[in-house]
Amino acid sequence: MLNIAIIGAGRIGHVHARTVAAHPQANLALVCDPFGDAAQKLASQYGARSCKDAEEVFADPEVDAVVVGSPTPLHIPHLLAAAKADKAVLCEKPIALDMKDVEAASAELDAVTTPVMFGFNRRFDPSFATVHAAVQDGKIGALEQLTIISRDPAAPPAEYIKVSGGIFRDMTIHDFDTARFFLGDIVEVHAVGQHLDPAIAETGDFDAAVVTLKAASGAVATIINNRHCASGYDQRLEASGRDGALLAENVRAHTVRLSNAEVTDAQEPYLDFFLERYADAYRLELSAFIEAVEAGTTPPTGIADAVAALRLAEAATESAHSGQPVRLA
Ligand SMILES: NC(=O)c1ccc[n+]([C@@H]2O[C@H](COP(=O)([O-])OP(=O)(O)OC[C@H]3O[C@@H](n4cnc5c(N)ncnc54)[C@H](O)[C@@H]3O)[C@@H](O)[C@H]2O)c1
Repeated sequence: MLNIAIIGAGRIGHVHARTVAAHPQANLALVCDPFGDAAQKLASQYGARSCKDAEEVFADPEVDAVVVGSPTPLHIPHLLAAAKADKAVLCEKPIALDMKDVEAASAELDAVTTPVMFGFNRRFDPSFATVHAAVQDGKIGALEQLTIISRDPAAPPAEYIKVSGGIFRDMTIHDFDTARFFLGDIVEVHAVGQHLDPAIAETGDFDAAVVTLKAASGAVATIINNRHCASGYDQRLEASGRDGALLAENVRAHTVRLSNAEVTDAQEPYLDFFLERYADAYRLELSAFIEAVEAGTTPPTGIADAVAALRLAEAATESAHSGQPVRLA
């Protein structure tokens, strides 16, 4: 049984609290958030303790592991403090908003010896994981093209977008990790950004983008992102290989189809947003983390993966602004 503390009682903190509380090998021990009664409210839902200062989490002898769900600029400081206190860490993406922050902390990050895993939950989505396993098993031969479609149902408020680091660091970061999961090292990034919503354009960020990634193997990934989608949270993936293709479709609450005089084969909308769509992925991500901590093995998505995804986000940002592909050394 792993005693887990959650730092940050916001949107993702709620997802992790629910997941930890429901996990048979985890105990939600402590929730931390400095603002208002956020920590106390979330903790009391699950009979956990609460605090306002992250130092209390790091000093707590009962806490074995920490889930970092604080705002992105606090990820490195919280990760390092937890690791120094000998706690295992499951940290949310992205590792930072700027590679300069990663570089400034690189010696300390390299010195971390406690288990650290990053929240690239899509690797653990049962459909995407099944596609990945089938590719690894050679079911479609050599992988030639990967297409990742990720559209949110609605854009977050402009205030969030202003501090998010931009669409590539905030949203596409998951897809960069998925592309690396399937294709390995990426050598070239070409991104096209779109300004579809004038309110988001005013923040200076794109609200939709198409990115192509060339892998060292010669395979190419295409990532299609949009901050809004009229039909809901659109999350699909296709892997195309020499001998076949694999397709992971959208997930719905059930598989019933309606046909009448107006429509044929009409289905429910897609599951609404990340909490519902990726509930299994968060659960399996947590299981992988607990398994690695308890077995003393290396967690599947470490600091190097988080840094590689951020590097791709920075290259995509540069490419979308310059209109030129960016080669990665
Ligand atoms: N993996 C995913 O699917 C996913 C989904 C959403 C968000 N995220 C990531 O999770 C992080 C948080 O995002 P969010 O949407 O939950 O944001 P949020 O603003 O809803 O929550 C962040 C919380 O952290 C708290 N906080 C601020 N300073 C703190 C401190 N010093 N110590 C402890 N808590 C502090 C805030 O009060 C807030 O409650 C971001 O890095 C985001 O990219 C990941």
